[in-house]
Amino acid sequence: MSDSQFQGRIALVTGAASGIGAATAQRLADGGVAGLALVDQNPEGLAEVSNRVSAGGINVLTIAQDVGDPQAWGEAEGLIGRTFGRLDLAVANAGTGAHGQLVELGFQDWRRVMSTNLDGVFLTVSAAMRLMTEGGAIVVNASVMASKAEVGAGAYAVSKAGAAHLVKVAAKEGAPARIRVNAVLPGGVETPIWREVPMFNDIVAAHGSEAAAFAAMGSLNPLGRYAKPEEIAGVIAFLLSDACGFVTGSSLVCDGGYLL
Ligand code: NAI
Repeated sequence: MSDSQFQGRIALVTGAASGIGAATAQRLADGGVAGLALVDQNPEGLAEVSNRVSAGGINVLTIAQDVGDPQAWGEAEGLIGRTFGRLDLAVANAGTGAHGQLVELGFQDWRRVMSTNLDGVFLTVSAAMRLMTEGGAIVVNASVMASKAEVGAGAYAVSKAGAAHLVKVAAKEGAPARIRVNAVLPGGVETPIWREVPMFNDIVAAHGSEAAAFAAMGSLNPLGRYAKPEEIAGVIAFLLSDACGFVTGSSLVCDGGYLL
């Protein structure tokens, strides 16, 4: 479905090669953006998404890099500035997980999660704010885990809580420059990130397919299912849109009732 909600805007999406990021890139393209900077560490996935979304004549810039690498961001920020002149919309979405209780979680896994989920969000948001010379809107994809303690999800949950708090500081600092910053807190979404969770792989083995595993896990949610990536992309687009012109520093939960 095409509309003109984001007509002429320039947008950045990280983690754009898969899942929620790829769906968000498509949603922004459908909304009429003029330019898209897509960042991910997976160049093949990026090329696929870029081919899909550029079909409508949008200028797409793909940047294959680790979002937790400050040096790479220095170059990316310069490249986005030179290519598009400015940025209007940004989605800090790239994320990763690690499973293990605190007493068994290795420091390397802790650092890997913090590097992507927290350093990556800081680097994305700060670069985006510098590029938003005419105001703008930023959404950080956190998680319901930002406000819930689950056994074995320590590194992931702490990184997401940090990201959600960074949103509040960024919202206050960005307000004088007319930059809004909000967080989306999804519950379970049917994407490949779950392959990083041993429990999910056990459920897949027991139920015979990923679809059956998602159905089994989703049945425990009040709404009886997990979300499709497009549903989260729709919420992100809403927060980026002018309909949310007075919304900043907030966290929008979209979890099918999981936190209730
Ligand atoms: P996904 O695995 O489909 O996509 C994640 C993307 O991020 C991949 O393309 C991956 O290559 C990229 N990425 C990971 N680490 C990176 C790094 N260091 N540098 C650059 N790119 C990197 O997973 P999904 O679900 O679409 O994840 C998107 C965001 O949504 C993540 O932040 C995740 O924590 C969050 N989220 C996902 C939920 C779910 O149930 N799927 C629930 C709540 C939040």
